[in-house]
Amino acid sequence: MKATHNPYNPGAGVPPPDLAGRDALIEMARVAIVRAKAGRPAKSAIMLGLRGVGKTVLLNAFEAIAEEEGCQTALLEIEPTMPLAQQLAPQLQQILFRLDRIKKAGAELQKAFGSLKAFASMFKATVGDVDFSFAAGQATGDLTIDLTDLFVAIAEAAKKRETAIILLIDEIQYLQKSDLGALIMALHKISQRQLPLLLFGGGLPQLAKLAGDAKSYAERLFDYPPIGPLDDAGARLALTAPAEREGVKYAADALDFVVKQTGGYPFFLQVWGAHCWEVAAKSPITLADAKRATDLAVAALDEGIFKVRLARLTDRQKAYARAMAEFGADPVHSSEIADAMGLSLSQAAPIRDELIKKGMAYSPERGLIGFTVPKFDEYMRRAMDPLTPPKAKKKA
Ligand SMILES: Nc1ncnc2c1ncn2[C@@H]1O[C@H](COP(=O)(O)OP(=O)(O)OP(=O)(O)O)[C@@H](O)[C@H]1O
Ligand SMILES: [Mg+2]
Repeated sequence: MKATHNPYNPGAGVPPPDLAGRDALIEMARVAIVRAKAGRPAKSAIMLGLRGVGKTVLLNAFEAIAEEEGCQTALLEIEPTMPLAQQLAPQLQQILFRLDRIKKAGAELQKAFGSLKAFASMFKATVGDVDFSFAAGQATGDLTIDLTDLFVAIAEAAKKRETAIILLIDEIQYLQKSDLGALIMALHKISQRQLPLLLFGGGLPQLAKLAGDAKSYAERLFDYPPIGPLDDAGARLALTAPAEREGVKYAADALDFVVKQTGGYPFFLQVWGAHCWEVAAKSPITLADAKRATDLAVAALDEGIFKVRLARLTDRQKAYARAMAEFGADPVHSSEIADAMGLSLSQAAPIRDELIKKGMAYSPERGLIGFTVPKFDEYMRRAMDPLTPPKAKKKA
């Protein structure tokens, strides 16, 4: 069918034609935002899920809701190499400018500007100096203390203006441990003082454990809604709704087939949908179309994201990943992988940690490890021969 009318949108962080199957989550966010703005207690949330499940598009949706509700937002994607203070300061400055526009600098806004100024210079953050003429406050150089003071000052200025600050932080698992700890402490203070500042985060599943390590009460401070594949109805809707707007239907067996192939993963639904559209000559999309589309989708993923990710690995990381892939899609005990590689647990552990650092793998609980990209195990089995068992190798 006409490429110009293909409604699907596979990509990273790009809005889907229909944000299917996430109504409950969106409602949860809306309620929290409205409550925060009204000065009522509301809970921050960090969405945890694998690659391509739709965390970023949800954060974008929450940002839009917050803006509709008249809140001040800052959306950032954590850069692994950059300290949090430097990433946050310019965004907070923008928020202060907007607060200033709502109501000109009162004492509390001056304090917030001063606090930001001290913070920015202490942590070497670059912020524009337009209208930044307020006297600097005090900063101690201890991020936990200074970030807490800054959040409190900004949130108080927001409260005076009957608005709320909504921070949206993506790829939150890339935060350095001390930065995450400081962020948690600052939010803890905000929640004790019942100030209108909320965080919505998105990250890979190991984050909950990381946050737990950082500060033990982080577990109570946030909700951690797991973001997974869409349920059956959501997956069907993600495929059919965009097509139907273009007057195109799926044959029942074709739809069943595609839903099964994608496992309901949002990114895969977009990829498969786009290929079904490309392959089909006319409506309805048939099972034969869906099968042909599957071949094309798998080839495109292999040549695209999977190959790129594999290329980022060193030889020993590749070997580890290949050994992991042998166990299938679900997380596996790292001791089993070490065994399969003929390594001791302590020899294998650093390789496992490298894979986690690179965002290739995650540990859902102690001792377990899984791939962060759905279907990566299948790709590894296609792309690399199984490891020769090390003992057999010695004999040969
Ligand atoms: N609920 C949904 N319904 C249909 N398509 C969706 C849905 N959520 C996300 N998508 C699509 O899935 C793809 C991946 O979404 P997104 O980039 O938000 O995932 P992510 O979880 O942030 O992935 P990553 O961890 O790689 O950053 C995009 O093409 C997006 O349009
Ligand atoms: Mg994302």
